[in-house]
Amino acid sequence: MSAHVLDQNVLFTDGNHGGQDLLFESIASDLLQKGFSINHNALPIDLAEILLQQAQSLSPQQLTPASTGRKQQRTLNTFVRSDNICWIEGESSAEAEWLVWAEQLQVFLNRRLFLGLFSFESHFAQYEPGDFYKKHFDAFKADPLDKQAQQLTNRVLSIVFYLNPGWLPTDGGELLMYTGDDKQEEVKITPSFNTLVAFLSEEFPHEVLKTQRTRNSIAGWYRVNCSRLDRVDPPL
Ligand code: OGA
Ligand code: MN
Repeated sequence: MSAHVLDQNVLFTDGNHGGQDLLFESIASDLLQKGFSINHNALPIDLAEILLQQAQSLSPQQLTPASTGRKQQRTLNTFVRSDNICWIEGESSAEAEWLVWAEQLQVFLNRRLFLGLFSFESHFAQYEPGDFYKKHFDAFKADPLDKQAQQLTNRVLSIVFYLNPGWLPTDGGELLMYTGDDKQEEVKITPSFNTLVAFLSEEFPHEVLKTQRTRNSIAGWYRVNCSRLDRVDPPL
């Protein structure tokens, strides 16, 4: 077997193709049991390497200050987050392979958990020394009676993939997730190369602690389909 579980919470695979089903199964069972999943050596190493290369060669022209909110209503709020992002559209082979991988995970989770994931969007994020992302949710639980609000909250699953070889405790920039029944238990995740985190978007408040070093990652979100006759959502 090409993967082994080192402790109850974290899967280490060898990143090869045989490891993929194990990884997907580990994510699925973690999501069922606790709503989040942390995996080291997650992607095939070749894919992780070319994503790292692309992240490291993003030019200032490709990066834009990150905003908060949905695509149509994004607002710039550097008090909340100060990183720069670059949306992934599949233009390079690294991006195209990443999107294929993300779709394979989508298909797996839909079969295994009946999540009904319908679309995926993702971006590179680059945090420079001093950058952070304050405590937030990626999606909001809507009042079941408020049809309109419900239709705006279709991010279901968040994933974050880290691209930082040799990250040290003194580099900061950890992802802090608030877990447990009352969301008081802190889980701190080092943004190390080829670590993948997945979590239910509405369930877990989380933040990115101030980084001391340039910090590269990819953040992605799976949505369910909230289209109505008069509006396509997510937008095509
Ligand atoms: C986000 C986010 C976490 C991270 O982009 O919404 O929470 O560790 N990112 O980069
Ligand atoms: Mn987030």
